[in-house]
Amino acid sequence: MLIAGNWKMNTDASSCVDLARGVVRESENAGVVRVTICPPNVFLSNVVKVLDGTRVSLGAQNMHALGSGAYTGEVSGEMLRSLGCRYVILGHSERRQYFGETDAEVSRKVTKAIKLKLVPIVCVGENLDQRRAGRERVVVAAQVKYALEGLTLSSSNALVIAYEPVWAIGTGETASPAQAQDMHALIRTLVRQQFGEKIASGLHILYGGSMKPANAKDLLGEKDVDGGLIGGASLQANVFGQIIQAAQEIEQDSRTSSTV
Ligand code: 13P
Repeated sequence: MLIAGNWKMNTDASSCVDLARGVVRESENAGVVRVTICPPNVFLSNVVKVLDGTRVSLGAQNMHALGSGAYTGEVSGEMLRSLGCRYVILGHSERRQYFGETDAEVSRKVTKAIKLKLVPIVCVGENLDQRRAGRERVVVAAQVKYALEGLTLSSSNALVIAYEPVWAIGTGETASPAQAQDMHALIRTLVRQQFGEKIASGLHILYGGSMKPANAKDLLGEKDVDGGLIGGASLQANVFGQIIQAAQEIEQDSRTSSTV
């Protein structure tokens, strides 16, 4: 399981350090659960110092597809790598919605991240109109297909996909465990068709959209839900810690049941 915190445009120069310290503390007993936090770019170097030597890894929330050049305000994958980032969120619905990011751009960024050995957390998900029209599978399948076009993967750890239904992000509304499972299974099937069984079965597919301690165990308990991409509930270390704990309990339960 992978539990990732997307801090979005939150925290400041001192609270980012406090929050990162809190997440480190909360992750001490995370067992096999992987934990990562994605602060705003401007605070990555403050946070990386706190994470050094701990089991919490660092991620960014976006990057440019090119390595360097005259692109004012942008940050490249090379820069993120040089700072110690392991993950980068790409194609988040807020980037698609507010910054006009297209499937083609997402695809270029994903290809670049993989080349740099930065693990992209590729976000896909339908909006409310698309769900109401029963088009969620078509929409998400197209997003996955575009994002992964032409990729070769050396291992299932090289990529993460996050299913984030737009209607559930920051709204307090959550996909039901059955809805999440249905979409995650679809995503895994698409990955299997493109990359084969070994990569598909090892791939982390995260759920994102108002995940919190009260619903985490039910969502994470679904067969194809391999973790969470958490927004609001990642901004308080103890709340995020409860989600990590839920993931840890599920891992423990599944190990116990596979040994009896
Ligand atoms: P919320 O958990 O605040 O709904 O945000 C989810 C998300 O967008 C994570 O990337």
